Amino acid sequence: MITINKKIKEKIVLALDVDSLEDAKRLITELKDFVGVFKVGLQLYTQNGNEIIDFMTEQGLEFFLDVKLLDIPNTVAKASENIVKRGASFFNIHTLGGAEMMRQCVKSAKETAIALNGKEPTILGVTVLTSISDEVLNNELGIEQKSDDYVLRLARLAKDSGLDGVVASVWEAKRIKEVCGDDFKVLCPGIRPEWSLKNDQQRAATPKFAITEGADYLVIGRAVTSADDRVKAMEKIYSEIGDMEG
Ligand code: C5P
Repeated sequence: MITINKKIKEKIVLALDVDSLEDAKRLITELKDFVGVFKVGLQLYTQNGNEIIDFMTEQGLEFFLDVKLLDIPNTVAKASENIVKRGASFFNIHTLGGAEMMRQCVKSAKETAIALNGKEPTILGVTVLTSISDEVLNNELGIEQKSDDYVLRLARLAKDSGLDGVVASVWEAKRIKEVCGDDFKVLCPGIRPEWSLKNDQQRAATPKFAITEGADYLVIGRAVTSADDRVKAMEKIYSEIGDMEG
C-alpha cells in the first residue's frame, strides 16, 4: 500500500462509466482513497443518477456531474440551481450555448451556493467535442476554422463569461493556459499510462505528460476501471506522478 499524496488525489477524477448502481458503488468503495472527484456522466446519471449521488454525499465524497448543459439561459440557470442543491462540486455546460447562457449559469450557481452556505462549484465549459473532426466542423456545421483555433476561441469566451475552466485534451492544455491564464482550470480526459490500452482514445496522453502540460484534473477511466487489479493500477499511476514531483 502506498502513501496517498493529497496533491495528486485532488487531481484524480474517476469516470464512473457503468450502468448499474452496484457497479458504481463497488468502484467508489474500492477506489475512494485514491480519488478526489467522482465523475457521473450521462450513462450513469440517466440510470441511477440520484441514488449514486446520495451514496457519495452520505460519505462526504466530491462529485462532478458531467451532464454538459445546453439550452436557453433561463433553463440552464434553473438546472444549475438544482445541480448545486444536489451538492455537485463540479459540473459542465457547452460553451456553444453562448456568453449569456454561461453568465446566467454562473450567477445562478453562485447565488444558490451562497443561499445554502455551501461551496461554490467549479463550472467547466465543453468546447468542441473530440468526436467532431475538422471536416465535420467545416462541412457539416459550417464553422470555417480549424478545431484547435475554435477551441481556443471558445475557451476565451468561457473565461470572459465567468466559467472556471474547460474540459480539453492534454494536447490543448498549454495553449489554453497561455490564452486564458494559469488560474483557468483545464480538466483532461484521454489519460492513458504507458502500460494501459488506448481503447478508442486517439489523442491519449500519460498522466505524467498531462501534468507537465498544465492539466489541473486528470479524468481516469478504463485505464483503472478495466484493470484486473484496480487498486494496483491506481497505485501505479500515483507512483508515476509522484516520481515526477520528486
Ligand atoms: O475510459 P476513458 O479513460 O477513455 O474515459 C474517458 C472519460 O472521459 C469518459 O467518461 C468520457 O465520456 C470522457 N470524455 C472523453 N473525451 C472527451 C470528453 C470526455 O473521453 N473529449
